[in-house]
Amino acid sequence: MLRDTFGRSIEYVRLSVTDRCDLRCSYCLPKGFKDFQEPAEWLSYAELTRVMQAFAALGTRRIRITGGEPLTRQHLPELIRDLAAIPGIEDLSLSTNATRLAKTAQELQQAGVSRINVSLDSLQPARFAQITGGKLDKVLAGLMAAKAAGFAPIKINMVVMREVNTDEVVDMVNFCIEHDFTLRFIETMPIGNPGRDATDHYVDLRDIKTQLETHFDLIPGVMPGGGPARYVRVAGTELRIGFITPMSQHFCDTCNRVRLSADGNIYLCLGQNAVYPLREHLRRGISDTELQQHILQAIALKPARHEFNEHPAHIVRFMAQTGG
Ligand code: 5AD
Ligand code: SF4
Repeated sequence: MLRDTFGRSIEYVRLSVTDRCDLRCSYCLPKGFKDFQEPAEWLSYAELTRVMQAFAALGTRRIRITGGEPLTRQHLPELIRDLAAIPGIEDLSLSTNATRLAKTAQELQQAGVSRINVSLDSLQPARFAQITGGKLDKVLAGLMAAKAAGFAPIKINMVVMREVNTDEVVDMVNFCIEHDFTLRFIETMPIGNPGRDATDHYVDLRDIKTQLETHFDLIPGVMPGGGPARYVRVAGTELRIGFITPMSQHFCDTCNRVRLSADGNIYLCLGQNAVYPLREHLRRGISDTELQQHILQAIALKPARHEFNEHPAHIVRFMAQTGG
């Protein structure tokens, strides 16, 4: 079992396969951002698989593929097949913006992705375009393809922003009831200062919960997942709603994850600059034992908690560069 210096068991790696994204969500990347890395800087699929084998040998049980937008990297199903075959990996999931999911959902499912999370901040085409720079109909087509491919549960992640989309939370609940999705609301975190929305439009999700309680009967204490969301169920339906509150009620005490960025940095916390650069070691030709030693040294750097509230301008990298 992989443990950090605070006794937390680290059984989960979020693996970013690219920093590129075809959207520019206001809280994630600046409008018009183009300063992405060159593909040569990304770890190859063989390198990613090797690193994940080392993590699994040390006790990692779950992998989530993230980005940027993971489906912008070519031949992703090849990587997925290799990751799914690693002994000890029990759960392989994917976070996507779904713009390219309509074409690939079935192949991803067959390759071994068991669960997917989709970012969706608005159901209104004009507003969706305003927030993300993209087209809502593509995302909805992607979601329907995922449903048809048999993914279950499908989780919708909605970043809630004051004066941007708080008036849509009830619509989003009804949409998820209708399609049998799980819904999670997320508070915006100040990451990399993309210049819009991230901090100016912050909403405490306790206020959103109060707002929802005037429309729905929310039953607490269901579905403790492997992550930070606290779930309720909407009475009379199957819908689970999770509240992810990194700002108002942080959950660092139970943090069970680290991130590997596309360029081979292990990030120990979203809200801290602690980082362990792995790529140069890998490319020097180290043994599997040495690789495991490097991972253990990285885990030892995991901070106790984020400091988004104390130091809101602290994190200079963008979310798409860290890995979502
Ligand atoms: N604050 C909160 N959530 C964010 N995401 C990306 N950037 C931020 C931020 N600054 C979310 C995306 C996606 C998930 C991977 O992270 O909406 O659902
Ligand atoms: Fe792309 Fe996800 Fe960032 Fe949006 S939040 S710009 S979809 S990486």
